Amino acid sequence: MEEKVTLSVIKADVGSLVGHSMVHEELLKIALTSLNSAKEQKIIIDSYVTHAGDDIELIMTHRRGEESEEIHKLAWSIFKAATEKAKELKLYGAGQDLLKDAFSGNIKGMGPGVAEMEFFERKSDPVIVFMADKTSPGAWNYPLYKIFADPFNTSGLVIDPSMHDGFIFEVLDIRDNKTIKLNCPEALYDLLMFIGATNRYLVKKVFRKKDNEIAAVTSTQKLSLIAGKYVGKDDPVMIVRCQSGFPAVGEVLEPFAFSYTVDGWMRGSHHGPIMPVSFKDAHPTRFDGPPRVIAAGFQLANGKLIGPQDMFDDPAFDEVRRQTNIIANYFRAHGPFEPHRLGLDDMEYTTMPEIMKKLKDKFK
Ligand code: F6R
Ligand code: MG
Ligand code: MG
Repeated sequence: MEEKVTLSVIKADVGSLVGHSMVHEELLKIALTSLNSAKEQKIIIDSYVTHAGDDIELIMTHRRGEESEEIHKLAWSIFKAATEKAKELKLYGAGQDLLKDAFSGNIKGMGPGVAEMEFFERKSDPVIVFMADKTSPGAWNYPLYKIFADPFNTSGLVIDPSMHDGFIFEVLDIRDNKTIKLNCPEALYDLLMFIGATNRYLVKKVFRKKDNEIAAVTSTQKLSLIAGKYVGKDDPVMIVRCQSGFPAVGEVLEPFAFSYTVDGWMRGSHHGPIMPVSFKDAHPTRFDGPPRVIAAGFQLANGKLIGPQDMFDDPAFDEVRRQTNIIANYFRAHGPFEPHRLGLDDMEYTTMPEIMKKLKDKFK
């Protein structure tokens, strides 16, 4: 019988060059070598290693299903080994996302971000893996809404009979750790009420309504909720399936032609515009940003990853990059004022308790 394929994207920041800018190539080499040997041992079918800013991205295919202990352990051992190298090179923030000492069966809840989906490979199966740096998982709400619910973005919702029924959004409330499924287009307004609040409600999965087929999945790990304090931004990943009953590649990329506002950037405590960039530009510098996103496109062939194509390496995205720089100037001019700086409850760094303690008697 035909077997399902699992696509797992697991990422972590375990130390970077220079400051929080990018991953050192020695760390990527460790990941490559180890995944090559996992291929030889038939633990995985195929893999691709890259980085988005200071995050190592492991893209793997296998037949072990979602949340496979073996696959998670493999990723954990790579991040551990890369941490050792980062310490040796005294890279910045060595081991920063590895919040636990020992692996305990599932890498979720241990620091790294995870997005996985299992499905029957189609006759031809294009997928796009999006990877962002200097932002948080709420950054996927806007593009997922545009891709799967907005006919002004995705004309297939109107004119392709295989998509016309719409899609189901699974939304996670990260505060109460509960999920809700909302059928669109019927529940569009309810959906937007939730996912417009990007730091509480996260789109976790999207399914095609007609047959419940998985269409998209995001990483929703929040480091601060795991560690109980700020330990770095969550720099999320997302997998989207394309074509033949899913939005076309161009419809999936289209929301990124607008530089929408996300939270993250400097010290994880600012609003700023997101910039879609080619792999070679995935190293945030200005004010530790602006936040950026890369897109790796693959065709699956019996579990093999054919590609990647560097999807944002296209002059068609030059204009949004220019727009990002203009918006970045606008936000930066606010300095420490909101709405550039996040509201008091959302800041990842704060001196407020100390200042309050010092000045509390002066309040009259
Ligand atoms: C944002 C980020 C950086 C750091 C900043 C200060 O996600 O990682 O903007 O917050 O460079 O870093 P520390 O506190 O390590 O000096
Ligand atoms: Mg870092
Ligand atoms: Mg990062």
